[in-house]
Amino acid sequence: MFNDSGWTADDLPPQAGRNVVVTGANSGIGFEAAKAFAAEGAHVVMACRSVERGEDAKAAIEADYPGASLTVRELDLADLDSVAAFADRYATEYDALHVLCNNAGVMAVPRSETADGFETQFGVNHLGHFALTGRLLDVLRRTSGETRVVTQSSMAHESGEIDFDDLQHEDDYDKWAAYGQSKLANLLFAYELDRRLRAANAAVASVACHPGFAATNLQYRGPEAEGSRLRLLAMKARTPSSRRARERARGRCCTPPRTRQSTAASTSAPAGC
Ligand SMILES: NC(=O)c1ccc[n+]([C@@H]2O[C@H](COP(=O)([O-])OP(=O)(O)OC[C@H]3O[C@@H](n4cnc5c(N)ncnc54)[C@H](OP(=O)(O)O)[C@@H]3O)[C@@H](O)[C@H]2O)c1
Repeated sequence: MFNDSGWTADDLPPQAGRNVVVTGANSGIGFEAAKAFAAEGAHVVMACRSVERGEDAKAAIEADYPGASLTVRELDLADLDSVAAFADRYATEYDALHVLCNNAGVMAVPRSETADGFETQFGVNHLGHFALTGRLLDVLRRTSGETRVVTQSSMAHESGEIDFDDLQHEDDYDKWAAYGQSKLANLLFAYELDRRLRAANAAVASVACHPGFAATNLQYRGPEAEGSRLRLLAMKARTPSSRRARERARGRCCTPPRTRQSTAASTSAPAGC
């Protein structure tokens, strides 16, 4: 279900006193979401696979918002031990979690496997976030006030199928089919989590969103990993400048029935990836 809401980061209400975790906060949409939350006074935990890139992103946000409250923590969604370590550390450092943004992702990369042997796109985009959410559920449920899990899907979910016979795409790897499967899994996860939270009378909402198209690093990772300079140049030529993308931006949310719309910052433009 899609709502073309016209919602922008300017509509974000004050976030003072709220803790927010954003995965993939050093780049693209995660970076913009972390900045928007911090600008409104939230304490943002920037969950990044590279602490160095996370610290650079933190410094960039602080340059714009000197009073921003930000912490960088290591999280590699391609490694379930790293997910567990991140969640354990969060639970020892914080009593509350108001918003979990399951945002990080990779798209159309050559086949590889996570530390636990899962196909990387399924493992990072879906399974890592599934595990992270499960491990942070107690602190989310303990937190008073409005709390939510926001899961970043994509229009690519429409072409996605869950291949139960070959979930890890071992037999016949198609990088776009694997991405579509992972983004459909994101959406199904958000819906099912919403159903289960409601059934348990938990005061935590689960919502999903997609950005349409946003000019980020996402489109370059696949060609980079394939070592294809030609495809990389072609992607860069096709990618609208972020300014044009912002001008065209129309945020869209995939909202589970009877849930509220996403608070994730949306920058978007043409066909989604
Ligand atoms: N851009 C679009 O048009 C578009 C459209 C639809 C959906 N989306 C979704 O939006 C989300 C964010 O993408 P983006 O466009 O902002 O791309 P991006 O600029 O490439 O950012 C992706 C982020 O995910 C992180 N990441 C990748 N693998 C990770 C791992 N194993 N563990 C932890 N973090 C990891 C990246 O870290 P590094 O910087 O260290 O690589 C980066 O911070 C993705 O879920 C994507 O599917 C994007």
